Amino acid sequence: MKIVVVGASGKIGSEIVALLEADHRVIKVGRSSGDILADYADSQSTRAMFEQIGGFDALISVAGGDSVFKDVDELEDADFVYGFERKILGQIRLLRLGVETANKKAVFLFSSGFLSHYPNRFSLATGPFNAAIDTYVQQIAPMLPNGIRAKVVSPAPVVPEERTKKGLISARDAAEAYVAALNEPGTGQIVRAWGGLET
Ligand SMILES: NC(=O)c1ccc[n+]([C@@H]2O[C@H](COP(=O)([O-])OP(=O)(O)OC[C@H]3O[C@@H](n4cnc5c(N)ncnc54)[C@H](OP(=O)(O)O)[C@@H]3O)[C@@H](O)[C@H]2O)c1
Repeated sequence: MKIVVVGASGKIGSEIVALLEADHRVIKVGRSSGDILADYADSQSTRAMFEQIGGFDALISVAGGDSVFKDVDELEDADFVYGFERKILGQIRLLRLGVETANKKAVFLFSSGFLSHYPNRFSLATGPFNAAIDTYVQQIAPMLPNGIRAKVVSPAPVVPEERTKKGLISARDAAEAYVAALNEPGTGQIVRAWGGLET
């Protein structure tokens, strides 16, 4: 398969690339490194990326830096706009523009996160957006053309292997959840990799 990984140099993205590279043609995307440089928060840059890539069989959206973590009392409009433009609009854009050039039966995987269900005082400019991308993908999945499928992976916080415990997973565990979602049938699912927490 020809698989596009947006955020390929990141904590989760680099592990996904390591798992897929032997068996697939992986196109790595980032703002500052990768086979293609693109900013998924920018419409023109995203269009240019898809033009350069041509047809593809899967796209995995694991770009980071998509949220502001501040105490709820300190959050301002700009913090919510930042999260909305990346976590929601950026991922919707990848799907909306991507379906135009994706091959038939292509698979899109998006990222949300467990803060949709396990909030804390610092998560209010990201957790609700995780819930929104979960819902968006669930709702649009049955409407996609050409047998194209879409799913979301919702990771728990990623920590170094030696610090993993209930509710904290390694980047490799997260990557394995994306690869399983890629290989398993179905569309519209939210795959919750929550490290043993109740889903
Ligand atoms: N890590 C966690 O604990 C955790 C938990 C739950 C959910 N998630 C979600 O999982 C996803 C990946 O997280 P991560 O921790 O692996 O991220 P990360 O390590 O911060 O990864 C950053 C990657 O995204 C690229 N990137 C950042 N902004 C970009 C942009 N505007 N356009 C294109 N590429 C961009 C970076 O490349 P450049 O620097 O070259 O742009 C890099 O490849 C995110 O959606 C995050 O919200 C993460």
